[in-house]
Amino acid sequence: MTENIRKMLVTSALPYANGPIHIGHLVEYIQTDIWVRFQKMCYPASAGHQIYYVCADDAHGTPIMLRAQQEGITPETLIKRVKKEHQRDFTEFAIIFDNYHTTHSTENQVLATMVYERLAAGGHINRRTIKQAYDPVQEMFLPDRFIRGECPKCGAADQYGDSCEECGATYSPTDLKNAVSAISGATPIEKESEHYFFKLGDFEGMLRDWTTAGHLQSEVANKLDEWFRAGLQEWDISRDKPYFGFGIPGTDEKYFYVWLDAPIGYLASFKHLCERDGINFDDFIARGSKAEMYHFIGKDIIYFHALFWPAMLHGSRLRTPTAIFAHGFLTVNGQKMSKSRGTFITGRTYLDNLDPQYLRYYFAAKLGSGVDDIDLNFDDFTFRVNSDLVGKVVNIASRCAGFITKRFNGKLSSSVHLPVLLDEFTTANSSIAAAYEQREYSRAMRKIMLLADKANQYIDEHKPWVLAKEQGTDDQLQSVCTMGLNCFHQLIIYLKPVLPIMAEQAEQFLNVDALLWKDCETPLLNHTINEYKPLMTRVEKEKIDHMIEASKEDLKSSSRTPLPEGKDFITIDDFAKIDLRVARIIKAAHVEGADKLLQLTLDIGGETRNVFAGIKYAYAPEQLEGRLTVMVANLAPRKMKFGVSEGMVLAASGDGPGIYILSPDAGAEPGMKIK
Ligand code: MSP
Ligand code: ZN
Repeated sequence: MTENIRKMLVTSALPYANGPIHIGHLVEYIQTDIWVRFQKMCYPASAGHQIYYVCADDAHGTPIMLRAQQEGITPETLIKRVKKEHQRDFTEFAIIFDNYHTTHSTENQVLATMVYERLAAGGHINRRTIKQAYDPVQEMFLPDRFIRGECPKCGAADQYGDSCEECGATYSPTDLKNAVSAISGATPIEKESEHYFFKLGDFEGMLRDWTTAGHLQSEVANKLDEWFRAGLQEWDISRDKPYFGFGIPGTDEKYFYVWLDAPIGYLASFKHLCERDGINFDDFIARGSKAEMYHFIGKDIIYFHALFWPAMLHGSRLRTPTAIFAHGFLTVNGQKMSKSRGTFITGRTYLDNLDPQYLRYYFAAKLGSGVDDIDLNFDDFTFRVNSDLVGKVVNIASRCAGFITKRFNGKLSSSVHLPVLLDEFTTANSSIAAAYEQREYSRAMRKIMLLADKANQYIDEHKPWVLAKEQGTDDQLQSVCTMGLNCFHQLIIYLKPVLPIMAEQAEQFLNVDALLWKDCETPLLNHTINEYKPLMTRVEKEKIDHMIEASKEDLKSSSRTPLPEGKDFITIDDFAKIDLRVARIIKAAHVEGADKLLQLTLDIGGETRNVFAGIKYAYAPEQLEGRLTVMVANLAPRKMKFGVSEGMVLAASGDGPGIYILSPDAGAEPGMKIK
């Protein structure tokens, strides 16, 4: 028996811990969750199979560090909060992980260190000094994404440091014209620093074999071929401080680049699960392991998973993945998700408005095994869910259940009315299973809906509602409804990986244990069912409209500060350089020979300052004496014709002649700092 036991570790890519889960992400997590649920239905733990689906938040890197800074909290606080939000969203979409961890964990630090040390011991790590863009104000090296400037090819303004969104050119940040740091607005300088590199080229032979040995989709293998021809470059795996990540052992404040410890995070999450549940980690992860390991990813991160990752695993004497399954990107109504159009929809906003199972079904109905992008079109979405799920599947149960409950005390008959039709349903299981297995969910959904059509035709032909009114047709009514409900039972088994919440309600209604795939072979006969309660309601267009409106609002109230677009911005640190104080005007006087100035004597808490202010035509001196205002206390002293001015008083003015001195609310005292 034991040789038939399946051991499987399945992962989805780890979402970054600096933003919410959105419907684009959900393509991946729903795709993986469906696959895992299908596998678990075929190979249940109760029969000794070990199938684990793990994930984690990807918690390291510059954007997360900066985001935390912006919010005025530590990165640890930020990633804890976001992890909670992510987990709540996943759970409500019925995406169930066996473990959800974080890359900022002890397990991950231990494993990342081990992988690095093994690579280093194998001679696969290089060190050399490189020059990089550096923000002299923020005192940090700038990732390409944090440099903005004019495209060197087409001149488009405000482009990222690595590529132009207007003309598609790619370049290095030093080619950008009038480059500025997106963090501080300062002009970046070039600075040298020693970096650590992973010598990917050492693994060319191994990678060529691995990438052509059936672990990858054909489109992906072709892409890799291009990369091989372009030559495998050394991969920069270190970052200088300040950085949020793990320190590289034996270095002076160098950190692992987030993408080094991110995939190791798959193993760390699994390790955490193993320790919790007493699973043998090495059984799955050691070189030569017979267990299967699958990674579901988006097409944007193929390079990391199909080149770096197998090389890192191989170089550290661990097993390599069984397969990597890449998917395409989500578009909405034919276009990239857009905040202004309201189609950048977060998981949370979706959940506030619509049933998560609609989206699971819709994605399933669109997903194939390739890397093509998939489009969410809301008219199509409404039509499919209403017509397939509500109109076809749920309808079968609602048309048969009442008669069984009311007329037969919930009891199904001892045989079905049309065994050939039910046989057809049962036989279909292998082709539907094959479609799931191959991630051809759209094919599986088509097959299932064809069966649902047949069940509805059957009911239309045998009209239980007519039988119910006639005399002496009780047996027939019971057996027709039993037939209908058995069709429904089959459909629910086949749809369970996609619609787990509805399946659970159906299990309760059909009065059966958690359905497994093999249950499709056993019809429900002489069996008592429970009362039917509606399983799903129709999609309402108003809810969709509301969701899109709310997504536009999300943007308005978003706590995300847009990146500065030019040099006009200052950082919080720049602002902190200005020493603003509450000051009491203890004396105000005219200045001989000056037509605009008043001379003010200011008390800033035990210290007095002499300031000349250009407010003569707005205020009489006696109006000012005794009142509080705000001054810049660390402005460099300026020598004027009439004396030295030791600061500046703040006043507002517009286009007109009015000048208005600022004053603090009651309670403020001279000398208080403004921050
Ligand atoms: N943190 C990295 C992954 C590290 S894995 C060791 C990352 N995070 S992400 O949050 O940007 O994306 C997580 C997953 O969601 C990726 O597989 C990505 O391809 C996928 N998607 C993000 N936006 C998507 C769409 N709009 N459409 C489909 N998938 C999308 O990358
Ligand atoms: Zn351009």
